[in-house]
Amino acid sequence: MTETPVPTARPSSTVAIIGAGSVGATLAYAALVRGAARNVVLYDINKAKVEAEAADIGHGIEFISQATIEGSDDIEICRDADLVVFTAGAKQHPGQSRMDLAANTVGLVKKVLPSVMEVAPNAMHMMVTNPVDVVTYAAQQITGLPPSHVFGSGTVLDSSRLRYLIARECKVAVQSVHAYVLGEHGDSEVPMWSSASIGGVPLLDWLGEDGEPLFTDAVRSRIGRDVVHAAYQIIEGKGATNYAVGLAVTRIIEAVLRNEHRVLPVSTRIDDDFLGIHDVCLSMPTVVDAGGAVRRLGIPMSQHEMARVQASGRSIREAARSLGF
Ligand code: 2OP
Repeated sequence: MTETPVPTARPSSTVAIIGAGSVGATLAYAALVRGAARNVVLYDINKAKVEAEAADIGHGIEFISQATIEGSDDIEICRDADLVVFTAGAKQHPGQSRMDLAANTVGLVKKVLPSVMEVAPNAMHMMVTNPVDVVTYAAQQITGLPPSHVFGSGTVLDSSRLRYLIARECKVAVQSVHAYVLGEHGDSEVPMWSSASIGGVPLLDWLGEDGEPLFTDAVRSRIGRDVVHAAYQIIEGKGATNYAVGLAVTRIIEAVLRNEHRVLPVSTRIDDDFLGIHDVCLSMPTVVDAGGAVRRLGIPMSQHEMARVQASGRSIREAARSLGF
């Protein structure tokens, strides 16, 4: 009888980051500083930039234990990588939505992913570049790998933005707030208010200093709007987002390489009519471990939240179809 191998932690694995732009370089830095990855390789077609980013991080390796970083414009640098994180893609300019980047980024993924597959045939793939749900769907089709091995960073970042804003509103540490943003990582994303909680207290029951419910419709709408607009505001101010996304993706890398079985709202392909959704990638709370995005959870939602998640799925699917996927 053959036994299915049980995935185990892979602390000395190599993480290959495709793209040495602000997200790729910040991710390399965050992953090394947090000890999430010991060996990081950066690949970019811009030789001068990728070598400079790797050198700049490398010069600080003395202050991080047991780490390596290398950068190259030769895809060979990714040979035998265990986890490939795709950050390269079209840059989002002020006023542009993530969906506006779809054609250019998917074109790039189509071009680069086959050569990554050649040098790292056993790697797991995490898509970060936008629109991440459409890109993840395309990547899964291109690679033909099981959906658990090709997933997207999804709404891990949006959920941390939501928790941050809730924490500030109720003056409780962000680590004690539990709340998800689900669906698209983008304009149609949905904050899950009905299941959110603060220190075990349902968010909708949380009282303010005046003894009245704090998270009124108006407060929830304001926070929801701020979460959706967060990236637009940051791009307006500094041209790109990089720090929080670097940390959010580092969290996902840790879950994979340390086999943590952590529940994270990553983007995965849904094919089983889950919530009436089919043939699309979007974010749901999912167990992430050394086997990748292994198990989606059925989170309770209100009818309204469910209808919004379904609509979010439809808009992602339409975008993927329009690109021939
Ligand atoms: C972000 O949400 C732009 O998707 C990127 O920060």
